[in-house]
Amino acid sequence: MRILLLGAPGAGKGTHAKLICESLNIPHISTGDIFRDNIRKNTFLGIQARSYMEKGELVPDELTVAAVKNRLEKEDCSSGFLLDGFPRNINQAGNLNKMLSDTNQRIDAVLFMEAPDKLILERLTERRYCSKCGRIYNNKFNPSEVEGVCDSCGDVLLQRKDDKKEVILERLAIYNKTIKPLVDLYNILGLLHKIEVTNNIEEVFYKISKTLEAV
Ligand code: AP5
Ligand code: MG
Ligand code: ZN
Repeated sequence: MRILLLGAPGAGKGTHAKLICESLNIPHISTGDIFRDNIRKNTFLGIQARSYMEKGELVPDELTVAAVKNRLEKEDCSSGFLLDGFPRNINQAGNLNKMLSDTNQRIDAVLFMEAPDKLILERLTERRYCSKCGRIYNNKFNPSEVEGVCDSCGDVLLQRKDDKKEVILERLAIYNKTIKPLVDLYNILGLLHKIEVTNNIEEVFYKISKTLEAV
C-alpha cells in the first residue's frame, strides 16, 4: 500500500505513521526525520536544511524532492511505503506524481489529519523524542514510564529544536498557507480521507485502521 500523511505540525503524523507501518509492514518515510538525521550526521544536506528548519521554514523543494526520490528508489519501497510530511506543497505533489508514474506506481490513500491550533501548541510544547530510536512521547498525553528515559531503549529523551513556541507558530502559519491546494488536489482525485485527531492515540489509530481496511 502507498499512503500519504498530510497534516498540521503536531497532528500526530509521526506517532501514527509508526503504528501504521508496523501493522502493514511498510517503510515509514518522514522528510523531517531524514533532515534531522542528516543534521545529526553533519552531511551536506543536513548543513543546508538546518537553517530553514530552525526557523520553521520549508526546506527548498530541490533538496526535499531529491531526498525523497533517493529514498523511494530503495528496494524496500517497491511494494509500498508511507510518506509522512511530504508533499508539503503543489510543486512537491507534482514531482511525487511524476516519480510514481515513471515507475508505474500510484497512491492508494491520503490521510488528512487536521487539528485545532490550541491542541497543536499543547501537544508540541510537551513533546519529547528518543535520541536513539526516535520514539515519540508527550509529557502530558503519552509519557514514558521513567521521566526523561525511553521505554524502548533506555536512552535519553530530548526536545526538538523547532518545538519552541515562536517556531511552532511559524510552522503553523506556513502549513496554513500551503495545505489547502493539496487537500483540494487529493480530494478531486478521490484519495482523501479526513481523520479526526482530537481523541487519544489509540482511538485515532483505530479510525485510521478502519479507513485503510476500506481502501
Ligand atoms: P516535520 O518533522 O514533518 O514536522 P511537522 O510537520 O511540523 O510535524 P511534527 O513532526 O511536528 O508533528 P507530527 O504530526 O509528526 O506529530 P507527532 O506524531 O510527533 O518537519 C520539520 C521541518 O522539516 C519542517 O518545518 C521543514 O523545515 C522541514 N520539512 C519536513 N518535510 C518537508 C517538506 N516536505 N518540504 C520542505 N521542508 C520539509 O505528535 C506530536 C505530539 O502529540 C507528540 O508528543 C505525541 O505524543 C502527541 N500526540 C500525537 N497524537 C496524539 C493524540 N491523538 N492524543 C494525544 N497526544 C497525541
Ligand atoms: Mg513528525
Ligand atoms: Zn528509544
